[in-house]
Amino acid sequence: MTENVPNRSEIEVPIEETKGETVVKTEPPKPVKKQVDRRSFFSWMGLAWLSFTAATLGMAAAIGRFFFPNVLFEPPLTFKAGYPEDYIIGAVDERFKESFGVWLVRNSEGIFALSTVCTHLGCTPNWLGAEAKFKCPCHGSGFYKTGINFEGPAPRPLERYMISYAEDGQILVDKNRKFQYEKGQWKDPDSFLKV
Ligand code: FES
Repeated sequence: MTENVPNRSEIEVPIEETKGETVVKTEPPKPVKKQVDRRSFFSWMGLAWLSFTAATLGMAAAIGRFFFPNVLFEPPLTFKAGYPEDYIIGAVDERFKESFGVWLVRNSEGIFALSTVCTHLGCTPNWLGAEAKFKCPCHGSGFYKTGINFEGPAPRPLERYMISYAEDGQILVDKNRKFQYEKGQWKDPDSFLKV
């Protein structure tokens, strides 16, 4: 918006006559009050309000995430694994490999629960039935069916988990307790279920 500032030439000035001469008396222009541009005022207000609203929403979102953080759902550490007769003597059962990270291995004496975590750097080995061994795809470590390491960089055998009977007669695997061969823990009766 342009301001209407009177042109100097448009200002009425009194004319004085002195001894035949015409003397033009000029007066300084009166200061004009600057008018606040209302439209720009309101647009600045709108911008400020928008910024405030955005900041408030951002803070509300941050607070919301604080109270409702991302939750990582992990499988329970204890699970029932069916009945001993569900397992074939001499076989490695992989039905709980994906869901619980456990192989159940039955031999002529009983069943043990073997961890699927490679003891080198934590990859998941594959059971190669034809070769009767677990083979890690990451760096080539090999483990016998018992879990004992025999090739590759793995420094120690696979770990076993606690295994027992549940009240209903099913096999109960508890991953809260681990048993390490190199510490003599595979002799612990909780690491092996007699069948
Ligand atoms: S993680 Fe299994 S061999 Fe390296």
